[in-house]
Amino acid sequence: MSKIIVVTGITGAQGGSVGSTYLELPGWKVRGVTRNSSSNKAKEWAEKGVEIVTGDLNDPKSLETAFENANVIFGVTDFWTIFQDPESGSKKKPDQDITEYCFEVEVQQGKNMADVASRVPTLERFVFSSMASASKWSNGKFNQLYHMDSKAVVVDHIQTLKGLEDKFSQIQAPIYFNLLWQWGLPTTPKKQDDGSYRIHGVGPSNIPIPFGNVQQDFGRCVKAVADAQPGLNFLAVGEMLSWVTYLATWCESQGVQVGGYEEHTIESFMELLPGGLGREFGENVLFAQQFGYDGRDPTVVRPEQFGIRMTSFKEYCERADFSSIL
Ligand SMILES: NC(=O)c1ccc[n+]([C@@H]2O[C@H](COP(=O)([O-])OP(=O)(O)OC[C@H]3O[C@@H](n4cnc5c(N)ncnc54)[C@H](OP(=O)(O)O)[C@@H]3O)[C@@H](O)[C@H]2O)c1
Repeated sequence: MSKIIVVTGITGAQGGSVGSTYLELPGWKVRGVTRNSSSNKAKEWAEKGVEIVTGDLNDPKSLETAFENANVIFGVTDFWTIFQDPESGSKKKPDQDITEYCFEVEVQQGKNMADVASRVPTLERFVFSSMASASKWSNGKFNQLYHMDSKAVVVDHIQTLKGLEDKFSQIQAPIYFNLLWQWGLPTTPKKQDDGSYRIHGVGPSNIPIPFGNVQQDFGRCVKAVADAQPGLNFLAVGEMLSWVTYLATWCESQGVQVGGYEEHTIESFMELLPGGLGREFGENVLFAQQFGYDGRDPTVVRPEQFGIRMTSFKEYCERADFSSIL
């Protein structure tokens, strides 16, 4: 009989990668969770053979049906869906920062998912998409990095659940290659009058931090984590890039001249990108540069330890279509 992997976020980047990986594995059935089973993405997955079920991380009852008979559950919460939800502005406390509100909702979503998973008798492995606790590993220096700390708080909760004892591992996504240029961030290479390309970023130009082709590689990493002993904390890094190596690799792949890197402080970066995104992304980069993206947690393991070949940024650049920014 086939085993069942339940994939939350199937219509997104991480869950989509996990779905693609397990669809090709003999002996596995993929069940994907979405809030809207009639969306185009959900229908595409159904056509490929994924059992699509409706579930909302804000509604534990809906997860009980979605998680039934699961052998593996891949759990991901999305800070940015909450951040972009127009209703979040009216649901948060009047004087509350929107990012703090997103933290609270994301923590509750993660706890809902873990609590329900802990009561699934067939479950062998719960793989949760986490991030390092920025406040803990920076000794309080970065104590408002809400989209990181939220996931770490969920991990703390998971580790108290008896039902997930010896069944839990975590996997950290690196910064997605495509975030650099497809989110409209100042890190998008911008053509200068002389034809060269210049980027704006935060912090020094030459400190490497982890990036990766999450859409392509994350699923294989999740499989390695699910197959291994529990208790893993896996960083799915593809390649360590500094701002300078990112720009140089991209320019070379496109046959254009490097126009340089404009270094920002967190304050000037937040002016370029106001509203919360600039602080969350800018501090994420600064935390990674100063304390390591994974907080230099000595227990963290990486793809090369599992023989997983990850896509390099050069390979990614050679295949991606950058015509929208050239
Ligand atoms: N971008 C980066 O560089 C980066 C790096 C590290 C970590 N991360 C983290 O990655 C997470 C996002 O993952 P992603 O990139 O895979 O997301 P994504 O591509 O934006 O997709 C979001 C997914 O979350 C699902 N979802 C959202 N709210 C939901 C809810 N209430 N109930 C059930 N499903 C819900 C959506 O499903 P439906 O819409 O179909 O319901 C969708 O599948 C974020 O928390 C972010 O902090 C991102």
